[in-house]
Amino acid sequence: MMKPELRHVDPEVFRAIQDEERRQSSHLELIASENWTSPAVREAVGSVMTDKYAEGYPGHRYYGGCEFVDVVEELARTRVKTLYQAEYANVQPHAGASANTAVYLAALKPGDKILGMALSHGGHLTHGSPVNLSGQLYTIQSYGVEKSTERIDLDRVRQIALEFQPQMIVAGASAYPRQLDFEGFSRIAREVGALLMVDMAHIAGLIAAGLHPSPVGYADFVTSTTHKTLRGPRGGFILSNAEWGKRIDKVVFPGLQGGPLMHVIAGKAVAFGEALTSEFRAYQGRVVDNAKTLASTLKDCGMRLVSDGTDNHLMLVDVKFSGITGKEAQSRLAQVGITVNKNTIPFETEKPTVASGIRIGTPQVTTRGLGANEMVELGTVIAEVLQGSRDQDLSSWQRRVQDLTRRFPLPGLGADADA
Ligand SMILES: Cc1ncc(COP(=O)(O)O)c(C=O)c1O
Repeated sequence: MMKPELRHVDPEVFRAIQDEERRQSSHLELIASENWTSPAVREAVGSVMTDKYAEGYPGHRYYGGCEFVDVVEELARTRVKTLYQAEYANVQPHAGASANTAVYLAALKPGDKILGMALSHGGHLTHGSPVNLSGQLYTIQSYGVEKSTERIDLDRVRQIALEFQPQMIVAGASAYPRQLDFEGFSRIAREVGALLMVDMAHIAGLIAAGLHPSPVGYADFVTSTTHKTLRGPRGGFILSNAEWGKRIDKVVFPGLQGGPLMHVIAGKAVAFGEALTSEFRAYQGRVVDNAKTLASTLKDCGMRLVSDGTDNHLMLVDVKFSGITGKEAQSRLAQVGITVNKNTIPFETEKPTVASGIRIGTPQVTTRGLGANEMVELGTVIAEVLQGSRDQDLSSWQRRVQDLTRRFPLPGLGADADA
């Protein structure tokens, strides 16, 4: 897959990239926000489009020579609008965080009030955390999940909104395993006179495939990343209506960013094209089915899941229930070749660097072809490793993970990467 030049020009970087390929290939990556892009997406991202300055938008650039980058940006915009039935799209945000910041800057004044989901209950840093610009520039109030159900209760969100009177409500999460009711959020937003922003970063692929209700038509703004379930290159985008679009375009450039990353936009165009296919819809169906099978296997093995299961591509496992911390669980699974991230759980009692949970997602392992039988095997391995003693010999579980990675190579990766 890699061109021979890098090996000779910069052996150190070449080696690190090869090692990373080998790591991804020889581990089962269960980080819910990661995926494995197609060779076509990676080819576009590694193309000469990286060399082009293209400040502005298609047809209105500040530089000459933009006729071909205009083609890819127009393709990306048109395809993503078709994918989500949206009136307006901006595909230039470099990341999900910049997409969210651009919407805030377009729609709010410093000091305005935002109601978002608490980070500790599954929200994202950019939804108002004090360590993020969103929490520093705006007045923040948070909602979370109920202690008894570990799910969002919209009556409670409404109560908070009525008291807080926000200018904007943010719906969307990084670690929430249940379906989100965007229609319900929009009713609350209209009642209190707030704008609604939905950050669909995690579930963008499921929404594109019709496996989760779409926020388009309910939210004033929809933001997303392109690299999680959507399986595109690392980046962001914004959807809205034509009227807000004029303002958002100005905020993204020149307000917030300089030149767009045209090679990444080319990769986004390819990924949106892939997402419009029936194969992609079938893939998303397998992502959700795999998550359900993995969740039920973990439960059958005696593990506790936050909210007792999943409706989407991820689950949160309360590993404290099994007697270990999230940090320890992450490290023990790494030793057998399974990559997860420690994660706080609602009503957390540990520091975020220790945490009581792990977050597990199925997008990447589904891309490499694992199905129901493998989810049962994987769930059993995870439960046995986490429930066993700290000093047990892990070699039999290492072999079981290796068997899966060998039987299901990453699509499009050279055979030598698995050596
Ligand atoms: C819900 C949500 N929004 C935004 C982001 C930020 O995306 P990025 O890392 O591309 O800035 C994330 C990333 O994890 C996310 O989970």
